[in-house]
Amino acid sequence: MVKNIKPKKKNRRLITSALPYINNVPHLGHIVGSHLPGDIFARYSRARGYETLYIGGTDENGSTSEIAAFKLNVPIEKFADKLYKEHKKIYDWFEISYDSFSRTSKKIHHETVKEFFETINKKGFIEKNKMKVFYSPTENMFLPDRYVVGECPKCGYPDASGDQCEKCTSVLDPSQLKNPKSTISGGKLEIRETEHLFLKLDSLTPKLKKWIQSNKYFREQVRNLAMGWINEGLKPRCITRDLKHGVKVPLKEFKEKVFYVWFDAPIGYVSSTKEITKDWEKFWKDEKSEVYNFLGKDNIPFHTIFWPGMVIANGEFNLPKNVVGLQYLNYEGQKFSKSKGIGVFCERLPELKLEADVWRHYLTQIIPETSDSEFRWKDFQERVNSDLIGNYANYVNRVLNFIYTKLDRKITKPASKELQEIDKNLLKKIEEKRKSIGDLMERAELRKAYAEILELSSEGNKYINDSEPWNVIKENPKRANNIFYISAFLLKNLAILFAPYLPKTSEKVWKQLNLKGSPSCSGVWEEAEKDFGKEHEINKPELIFKKIEDKEIEEYRKITSQGIDLTELFK
Ligand code: MF3
Ligand code: ZN
Repeated sequence: MVKNIKPKKKNRRLITSALPYINNVPHLGHIVGSHLPGDIFARYSRARGYETLYIGGTDENGSTSEIAAFKLNVPIEKFADKLYKEHKKIYDWFEISYDSFSRTSKKIHHETVKEFFETINKKGFIEKNKMKVFYSPTENMFLPDRYVVGECPKCGYPDASGDQCEKCTSVLDPSQLKNPKSTISGGKLEIRETEHLFLKLDSLTPKLKKWIQSNKYFREQVRNLAMGWINEGLKPRCITRDLKHGVKVPLKEFKEKVFYVWFDAPIGYVSSTKEITKDWEKFWKDEKSEVYNFLGKDNIPFHTIFWPGMVIANGEFNLPKNVVGLQYLNYEGQKFSKSKGIGVFCERLPELKLEADVWRHYLTQIIPETSDSEFRWKDFQERVNSDLIGNYANYVNRVLNFIYTKLDRKITKPASKELQEIDKNLLKKIEEKRKSIGDLMERAELRKAYAEILELSSEGNKYINDSEPWNVIKENPKRANNIFYISAFLLKNLAILFAPYLPKTSEKVWKQLNLKGSPSCSGVWEEAEKDFGKEHEINKPELIFKKIEDKEIEEYRKITSQGIDLTELFK
C-alpha cells in the first residue's frame, strides 16, 4: 500500500550515556538528561536495523564517591556495591535498555585504563609538570577537586568545585578558585606544588578543532561551547591526583597517585563494551561503527574536548559521530535538591503504581534539548491526560473497539480502486511522517520527533471523525471495513514509531492488533510499510491507561519529594 523507504546502509552503533557518579541515587534530572534520551535513540537504532549496543555504568572513582562514603563512615566498596544496585534498579524500572551497565571499580576497567594510558604515553602526548594543589593542614592531606569549594573565577558562582563550575560549566584547576575551603572541615587551605602528569591538549588542538568544525551533527550550542574553549586556547590538562581511591598510575614514580576521574571514567565506555562482547573492537574501531554520546550540560566540555582529545592521542578509537549534550531540568522553577525535598526522587516512583511509559511520555516532552526545561506536576497531569490518553490511547481504543465489536474483529484489505481521496491522503501522510520522523531521530531530535508522532495520532482521530464510520456502517459495512483497515494500518505504524518512547505500550498495542514478533525487534521499521494482508483478525482490546486525577497529583507530589536518606540505606 505504501511505497518503500529505502533501507539505509546499515552501520553499527555504539550509544553511551554519561556514567553517573555513584555518590547518590539519581533523580529525574539524571533520567531526562542522559539515560532516557540515550535509550530512545538506542531503541530507535535497533528498530532501524543498526547493530546497536547501548553502554553505561557507574562512575565510582575519584573524590565524589570517596567523600560520600567518608561522610557515612562506610568503606567505599560497600558503599558502591549498594549504590550500584540502587542505580540499576531505577534504570531497569524506567525500561532503560542498557546492553551493558558496568562499573568503573571493576578490574577490566582498571586494565583498560592502563592500556589506554600507555598508548597515549608512547605516542608522546603525556608530559610531566608541576601543579599547584591545595593542601589542608587540618586534615594533613592534599585536597583535589571536590574536596574544595570556592568561588568560580569566571561567573562568580560561590559553590564551584575544584575541577568545574556547575553553573557556567567552566572547567577549572583547583588553584583557580577564589576563597577556597575544604568541604570536609571547612578549614582554610595552603597551596603546594607537586609533580603530576598532563595530557598535552595544546598539541591536540588542530585535530580537535577540525573534528568539531566538520561535525554536521552537533547541536549549535554544543559546537559553540566547544569552539569557545578551543578559541580560548587549550592548555595541558592534569590527569593525575593525590588520592587513594581510583585507578593507579602505572609508572614507578607516580605509584602513589591515581588518575583523575575524568581521565578514567570515559574509558569506562570502552571497558563496559569489552565486558559484554568479544567484538568490542568492531564497535569502537571499525570505520562502519558510529559512536553517539548522550550527556548533561556540565559534561559537555569533557565530551567535546577532553575525551575526544584522549581518543585522538590514543589514535585507535573512533571519535563520536554526535555528542548529544543536554541542558538542565528544573523542578517547579527551582533546582533539584534532595536535602530540601525539592524534586522528584526516582526511588519512590514504583510506589505510585503508574507505568514507566507514563513517565517516559511526559519526560520525553521535557527533554532539555535546546534549553533548560521544567518539571511541573500540573503539566505532567495535563500532558498525560490530553496527549497520551485523550489523543493516543483514545485512538487505540476507537480503532480496536470498532473492529472488535462492529466488524466481528475482522478487517479485509480494500481493493485500490475502492480507496477514496481521504484514505489516500492519510496513507500519504503516514509515509511522509515516517520519513520526517526518521530524519529527526537520526539527528537525535527526540522531542520534535515525538511531537510529530503525536500529531500523526491526531490525524488518525481526525480521519475517523471525518469518515463517520458509525453512520457509514448502517448502509455500507464494506466502507466501514475499509476505514478501519486503514486506521489499523496507521495504528500499527504508530506502535512502531512510539516503541522507542513507550516500549511496553507498543507491545500491548501489537498484541491487541494480533501481530507477530515485537514492535521493538531489530529492523522493525521495515515492517511498518507492510499491511495486514488480505484478511486479519485482532485480539480483544483492553484499556491501556487511566486518567490522572487532581487528588492523585497531590499524593504523588508528596511521596516523590522525599528521596531515600543515604544513612537509612546503610543502617
Ligand atoms: N560521572 C560524571 C557525572 O555524573 C559523568 C562521567 S561521564 C564519562 O557528571 F564520560 F566520564 F563516563
Ligand atoms: Zn562559573
